[in-house]
Amino acid sequence: MTGNRMRRRAAALVLGLTATAGLAGCSGASGDAAGDAPLVGVAMPTTTSARWIADGENLQRQLDALGYTVELEYAEDDVPTQVAQLQAMVDGGADALIVGAIDGTALKDVLAQAAEKDIPIVSYDRLIRDSPDVDYYASFDNWRVGVLQANSLLQGLGVLDASGQRTAASGPFAVELFAGSSDDNNATVFYNGAMSVLTPLIDSGVLVVPSGQTDFATIATQGWSGDVAAERMATLLPAYQGTGLHLDGVLSPYDGISRSILETVSTLGGPLPVVSGQDAELDSVKSIVAGEQYATVYKDTRQLAEVAVSMVRALLDGTEPEVNDTATYDNGQKVVPSYLLAPQLVTVENYEAVLIESGYYEAADL
Ligand code: GAL
Repeated sequence: MTGNRMRRRAAALVLGLTATAGLAGCSGASGDAAGDAPLVGVAMPTTTSARWIADGENLQRQLDALGYTVELEYAEDDVPTQVAQLQAMVDGGADALIVGAIDGTALKDVLAQAAEKDIPIVSYDRLIRDSPDVDYYASFDNWRVGVLQANSLLQGLGVLDASGQRTAASGPFAVELFAGSSDDNNATVFYNGAMSVLTPLIDSGVLVVPSGQTDFATIATQGWSGDVAAERMATLLPAYQGTGLHLDGVLSPYDGISRSILETVSTLGGPLPVVSGQDAELDSVKSIVAGEQYATVYKDTRQLAEVAVSMVRALLDGTEPEVNDTATYDNGQKVVPSYLLAPQLVTVENYEAVLIESGYYEAADL
């Protein structure tokens, strides 16, 4: 929130207006008669992945509990749809926006209009880029996610032991690398975190990448699509024939991609490689329990929703949201003040303690 915006909201509160009436005045929102609950627009990227459905539900539940009115929209990974949804929220009198962006660079214009109307904007999980109008960022330590993904790959290969210590294993282990969608800022951060761990081992020959494909642009997976990843996996495997190498491991940035990779390898008859993941999606946890996917990175979407909701609440109350990082996330226009949660590695060894005992899943779900 700009100083001006913050001051105007604070002034409204000092004048003895209720938070709601004050905010209605600030946003110039047509549908906001005095006494109405604040309207929070929640723009989520897609329902094709279980995690975003959970995110939307958690946000809705927590915002409802505060008495806010919620407009929750999913854009099915279509950028113009997401822009139109945000536009409708801005035009329809939203008092705050929570945005899980599809293309982090495509929202500049509509967010400028939101800022014009003093509507605070919280970037959710994915950093919105190139816009000066993003007020706060709620996410996880995304570099650490990448580090955990790489560590899990190494642990599965036996290059690291269970406590993360280097073993005597010298390989060479044949691995292939997959990254996320290049329009999502997180994808680069995950990749950079993972490569900070893997590059020294590639350089020393403990890991080999038979395809030679290691740079982000080559290994990125448009739209985080499992189908796109499966197609690429299918093109990589034939090159192993006659080399004496078999695919030992795959760096995968997200569970939907991990499952597609495993399915492709299994269809083509190969032994299953060690595969990393992210999001602790139910189908991937089942796969881990079944001894297929090796690991996932768990990010508690309930907590992420809590962070975003408490940011919105503070902004609507005219106070400063709590942050724990004011240095890392430069979106090209500004360093966006952030609250970053800690991700956690999950394997067959600890899934019960991490996912069941925390109530994230019921034992019966698995
Ligand atoms: C990322 C997100 C991951 C995963 C991926 C695909 O932005 O941080 O947790 O969900 O998108 O949806």
